[in-house]
Amino acid sequence: MKFFLTTAIDFVNSKPHLGTAYEKITADVIARYRRLAGFETHFLMGNDEHSQNVFKKAAEQGKDPLAYCDEMEGVFRDVWKRLDLSFDDFIRTTDRKRHFPAVQKMAQACLDNGDIYEGAYEGWYCEGCESFKPEKDLVEGLCPIHKTKPQWIKEKNWFFRLSKYQQPLLKHYADHPSFIEPEIRRNEILRLVEGGLEDISMSRAGQSWGIPVPFDPTSVVYVWFDALINYAAAVGYGWDDEQFAKWWPANLHVVGKDITRFHCVIWPAMLMSAGLPLPHQVFGHGWVYFKGERMSKTMGNIVDPLDAANKFGPDPLRLYLTKEIPYGGDGDFTWERFEEKYNADLANNLGNLVNRVASMSERYQQGRVRSQATSGALAAIADRAVHDYRAGMQVHALHEGAAAAFGLISAANNFIAEKEPWKLAKSPDNAAELNGVLWDLSEAVRIAATLLLPIMPASSSEILRRLGDDRPIRDRRLESDASWRTSGEKQILNAGALWPRIEAEKGAVHVSEESQKPAEPVTQAPPPAATAPAAPAAPATITIDDFAKVHLKVAKVLEAEKMPKSQKLLKLKVDAGEAEPRTILAGIAESYEPEQMVGKSIVIVANLAPRKMMGIESNGMVLAASPDDGKAIVLNAEPAAPGTRVR
Ligand code: MSP
Repeated sequence: MKFFLTTAIDFVNSKPHLGTAYEKITADVIARYRRLAGFETHFLMGNDEHSQNVFKKAAEQGKDPLAYCDEMEGVFRDVWKRLDLSFDDFIRTTDRKRHFPAVQKMAQACLDNGDIYEGAYEGWYCEGCESFKPEKDLVEGLCPIHKTKPQWIKEKNWFFRLSKYQQPLLKHYADHPSFIEPEIRRNEILRLVEGGLEDISMSRAGQSWGIPVPFDPTSVVYVWFDALINYAAAVGYGWDDEQFAKWWPANLHVVGKDITRFHCVIWPAMLMSAGLPLPHQVFGHGWVYFKGERMSKTMGNIVDPLDAANKFGPDPLRLYLTKEIPYGGDGDFTWERFEEKYNADLANNLGNLVNRVASMSERYQQGRVRSQATSGALAAIADRAVHDYRAGMQVHALHEGAAAAFGLISAANNFIAEKEPWKLAKSPDNAAELNGVLWDLSEAVRIAATLLLPIMPASSSEILRRLGDDRPIRDRRLESDASWRTSGEKQILNAGALWPRIEAEKGAVHVSEESQKPAEPVTQAPPPAATAPAAPAAPATITIDDFAKVHLKVAKVLEAEKMPKSQKLLKLKVDAGEAEPRTILAGIAESYEPEQMVGKSIVIVANLAPRKMMGIESNGMVLAASPDDGKAIVLNAEPAAPGTRVR
């Protein structure tokens, strides 16, 4: 069983934002789900580079366009890596080995089929969309998406006979009802095609940035005609027939609602013209808005997905986007809502469950939990959750898949409240029953974590590791791993809070006072799951690898000043042995006068995500001994040189 899925390839005139990341994350969830379900999966992503906006952006920066695109590939790949995307291939439209031959082959095939002819285009062109705009699509003369006035252009173009494919397309939609999903997009496209199709330009004259038209070297292939072919190019079209035969047609193109028409009308028509099979499905997802508004540079409201990933790791963001936005519809992102869901789903619900199960197993049975032959009520709930999860994930209702897993997690927390294991632990007579409760809980956690692997890969793997199973993700299978076990045993590791609660101060993470308390109440019932804080057993250990993630360095204080309106903060300029000094805000103003700090060699956390406080971005943290009711004592690293690593 094979599954080939793709995302839209991104224009590289700006870096990824939350909207483009949403598409990639949700496609990654689908790819990971398919692998978990046992499919040989090929997940393709890439960059769309032959756009005039990209060309202009490079020129603005005084760069050669290809060199600019090379740099942007690095920027995109870094973000995608940070978001834990598991793509198998990444294609760029400037790829001369794969993409150029594919585009030229398809253009030639369409020409040979009589579907390309020479003509003149006169009309509107929106550079934002990189698309020709019929007058009827403009709203008060402006592009409805970019709200800008399109350019009036008049040039010699090669045209693709799209009009010829109106009936074949309608027939294809009728014969393959699931070709366009969700239904709202299908209806939009049906209406559009039923209304009649006009031929489209497939070339641009007088431009150098692009792939030369094989039968007219004075023109380049129009960026959309070029870009759509990436899907076939990546898997061998025009350069590796064997690979192409293996993977084509694609099972699924995941694209945004604004570009569904390119994928459901133009692309299938091009494929029909070139005599190639059509992809099985195009899924047009909705858009993510910020506080109800479209994210845009001019509005200054673009959300950087790395802000969330650097503070909380990629998984809380992946979960939010998957679970809170019904897939196919539009969704909204606000930091308040994100933090609220983080606390509810992760700190209070899943994190709390993992901590409670691990700390009770450790406290009552040294972490060793044995199977029991009869499965109780939780097993039936788990079966149902797996069933609902599969049903949702198979039809890309990712939010339903996530909800099914979280239903099981809530049920397990309720099961603890109902069984009160701490009461059972009071008498050795209840040992078998207590072990049974812990086994059931550990199975529920194991199955929930397995279901969540596609959505939160790193944290689900960590939960499974704590349950004694450290196999790599790619070795896991839904069929065998998401079924309830009645044999075997687990050695459970109690390793501390996975998701400390975010406290009221916006954007800052604090482990709450509550969560520092010792693990499980021995004599009294824990608070109900919905409000219980994460409860790690103290002291939690970390591995040397965990420690190595914290980059400690010596820094010399160059300047120090009090922050106006703050009693606690000093603003320091420090030399940390880097190209430029950095600014750090440190809460030490009650202990040190600015002049006492200047010239000191101190220790800083150098890889802390930048954080804005009182309008100033702080880049790092100063280490200080902090007695409970005394004043901070900054660590002295004299006489080590700035930049020296502390380890
Ligand atoms: N380069 C074209 C796609 C060519 S595919 C052959 C393009 N690029 S894009 O960078 O503008 O957009 C990439 C994808 O991100 C598109 O599917 C688009 O719909 C999606 N999104 C851009 N902003 C978005 C949101 N705010 N929310 C969700 N998806 C969004 O179009």
